[in-house]
Amino acid sequence: MKTIRPLLISFEGIDGSGKSTQCKMLYHELIGRGYGVHLYREPGGTGISEKIRDILLDRENEAMSPITEMLLYFASRNQLISEKVVPALERGEIVLLDRFVDSTVAYQGHGRSLSLESIWNVAEVAIGEVWPDLTILVDTPLETAETRMDDRELDRLEAENADFKQRTRNGYLQLVKDEPQRFLVLDGRESIDKLKQQVLARVDQLLDSLP
Ligand code: TMP
Repeated sequence: MKTIRPLLISFEGIDGSGKSTQCKMLYHELIGRGYGVHLYREPGGTGISEKIRDILLDRENEAMSPITEMLLYFASRNQLISEKVVPALERGEIVLLDRFVDSTVAYQGHGRSLSLESIWNVAEVAIGEVWPDLTILVDTPLETAETRMDDRELDRLEAENADFKQRTRNGYLQLVKDEPQRFLVLDGRESIDKLKQQVLARVDQLLDSLP
């Protein structure tokens, strides 16, 4: 198995953006090249985190307060980081995350209008120094994303209204403005194949630049 400097790549986007498809394709591509690669989804990726996921996405939990929601996302994330991500990075492997802290800033910060400062304060405790080398944002207009979800049974967050989703998308675009060098922004209306080529081009660049 090829080892390199540890690499953390996160994928972000609104529900129905197509990010999970891209994340899985990159995973298979890198596995095929002989790298040690792990793919985890958020919330989830460990036994405990998957249980937290069930609570978060259960449509019966309408009474959940925005702060409880935010803390549960970070609880799931901290468990994933401690149990899986840090050990994999310490072994010099590649970790792909289907969502990470930007999701909380976009959904709970911008979507739910929680204070961004409080989110970053909790992030400091929950994720410490763990930070993505690259974040791939699949930016997709609401209308396109919604047509892709037409036949899905929606979870608690997916069932939110259009204003919430628009604020979330705008939240992502604000994050890109704040830290442009970390992001690759893709147009989610492009074909799966074209997006895959764009992801690979950027990841190849990153792999080539590693010491
Ligand atoms: P998924 O459908 O991409 O697996 O994500 C589950 C849902 O949780 C999705 O609607 C986005 C939402 N979410 C947040 O609201 N905040 C977060 O921090 C994360 C990771 C996901």
